Amino acid sequence: MDATTKRPDRKKSPVYDCWLNYRPINAPIADAYATFCHSITCVGTSPVIESALSELAYGIQSMLGITPERTQTFQGIAIGIVEQMDGIAFSETENIDEEGYIIKRHKQGFIIAGKQDRGVLYGVFAFLRLLQMKTPPEKIERAECPLNKLRMVNQWDNMDGTIERGYAGKSIFYKDNRFSEDMEIIRDYARMLASVGINGIVLNNVNVHHYETRLLTDFLPDVVKLAELFRRYGIQTFLSINYSSPIDLGGLPTADPLDAAVQNWWCEKVREIYQSIPDFGGFLVKADSEYRPGPFTYGRDHAEGANMLAKALKPFGGIVIWRCFVYNCMQDWRDLETDRANAAYDNFMPLDGKFMDNVILQIKNGPMDFQVREPVSSLFGSLKKTNQMLELQITQEYTGQQKHVCYLIPQWKEVLDFDTFAKGSGSTVKRIISGRLFPQKHCGIAAVSNIGDDANWTGHILAQANLYGYGRLAWNPDTDSRAITDEWIRLTFGDSDKVMDVINDILLSSWHTYEKYTSPLGIGWMVNPGHHYGPSVDGYEYSAWGTYHRADCHGIGVDRTVETGTGNTGQYFPPNAEMYNNRETCPEELLLFFHRVPYTYRLKSGKTLIQHIYDTHFEGVEQVKRYRDSWLELKDLIDTERFDHVLKMLEIQIKDAAEWRDVVNSYFFRKTGIPDEKGRTIY
Ligand code: GCU
Repeated sequence: MDATTKRPDRKKSPVYDCWLNYRPINAPIADAYATFCHSITCVGTSPVIESALSELAYGIQSMLGITPERTQTFQGIAIGIVEQMDGIAFSETENIDEEGYIIKRHKQGFIIAGKQDRGVLYGVFAFLRLLQMKTPPEKIERAECPLNKLRMVNQWDNMDGTIERGYAGKSIFYKDNRFSEDMEIIRDYARMLASVGINGIVLNNVNVHHYETRLLTDFLPDVVKLAELFRRYGIQTFLSINYSSPIDLGGLPTADPLDAAVQNWWCEKVREIYQSIPDFGGFLVKADSEYRPGPFTYGRDHAEGANMLAKALKPFGGIVIWRCFVYNCMQDWRDLETDRANAAYDNFMPLDGKFMDNVILQIKNGPMDFQVREPVSSLFGSLKKTNQMLELQITQEYTGQQKHVCYLIPQWKEVLDFDTFAKGSGSTVKRIISGRLFPQKHCGIAAVSNIGDDANWTGHILAQANLYGYGRLAWNPDTDSRAITDEWIRLTFGDSDKVMDVINDILLSSWHTYEKYTSPLGIGWMVNPGHHYGPSVDGYEYSAWGTYHRADCHGIGVDRTVETGTGNTGQYFPPNAEMYNNRETCPEELLLFFHRVPYTYRLKSGKTLIQHIYDTHFEGVEQVKRYRDSWLELKDLIDTERFDHVLKMLEIQIKDAAEWRDVVNSYFFRKTGIPDEKGRTIY
């Protein structure tokens, strides 16, 4: 069988293969599978279908030791596009959309079909997943479609090989300001992404520097090659652009979006791109944000800025993804009126309805910046006439930098399930970004990737679960965190109940654990400036970034109420607005985000705020020690490479969590002079 499944030896490791590490399956279930896995009939052809075929053959080979024969007549498994499957009649197609798939049992075996080739590929990956999880044949049937149209990853890779906020080595895409030549690793990344339904990738960092600006010119032939590779896995290619490209590349005196020469320059550039990448996705733009250029320089607004690009892309079906991460990063910390949390809403709400229909606003989950805890951005639900997508951060910038285990699916679930009440109850973020609440031409979800060239891709093996889970949630945000975790553990580590229990327990509680020993009750930050790792309570307190906790000897927190504060709570719909605005009804995990509270304030637990801070910091560290102890119980159940690695990482986490605990507790003890009721050591 013509399956491109050869792998260099160094990559033949369960660490490298992540959840696609197909392990042998034994009898009796293997015998049942063998009755249909001996042959594959492929109907129709396309690069994506070829990938589906080779993935299927590879998976079967690895799990069952069978090399399936490719047959013209359907004898075991048939894959292909529904319309082309003459003679293989079935009727479920009305249940799936363009990207959906059907896995159907048939007297000959199984049919895996989609309306388009992407669906076929997704169907194959789902089928392999079900086999790896030893699903009985009678339970394998499925008909599924993704709830989000765009399911993207954003690479924050730079051409010099570094990755902004990357914690897993260097870029797999670039080295020394050139494209990497190891296409195999990039292909394996494409496989992983496709296996969880990702359909778009932005190839470079949102901060576009000198060399990356030239992705549109000198490096376009290399982009073409990558686009070709990703296309085979149903993944569309996008680029982050530098808004000043007409000046930097075109030699024009301006990048003013209303200037005719600038508009022509972009039209011409886009035309060239589409000549070589006919299915190019479009541009991701960070403009007028953290010193990046944008339309403000020319007195134009974001809609004028985005629409100019959208016009150039429109004839080719391309889109502009315009980021809402816009705020004043030169704030005077003495200024108590300006509130960074208000910025995205203040900047973009007046423009609702002014963007072309091929512009999407990409909105970070929270109003600040990927903190361990913050409320959901008030733009969700408020923007009613604009395409929008959610931006998450898989890379753990503020959540342990892939040294700490911090499984983010439960956090993202809270975001997706958050009810904005924009159109009454049930107006959840997941319904907004999937276009189910307001009609939108384009919408969906994006996340900053967490991979690099580390042998295990993500630095911490358990961080692979965040990438996997992101894809699964992007496909279906209703999926339960525990179901995703179960799947990931079984696919990655096999099906020992003990392994399942221990890893499940660690993953599902890890976000709260991390939250406990870092910044309390939604206040955020308190990290070392620049690299953002390790505790520094005042690290950003007297800086220009707009990220303050305002702690003094009496209390801590930012008053964001309507009456006496920055008015941020007023950006939400009732009843959220009232709930946040009132200290007594504000969810406690966000108390310090919305309110300034004395240390002696009593929480619902009956504890004072200061005691809560002490207790959670002690508890967090103890919890990580428990993770280490329970991990030790897996010694004989997991291969040495992965066992040792996670153990080593947990030891690092214990040490660094203790540092966090001691610095934060000592800071508040010294500020307040209030001793710990339990008399533990605070310095
Ligand atoms: C964070 C991050 C930056 C990044 C920025 C963004 O502030 O620290 O490195 O550039 O987000 O999302 O644009």
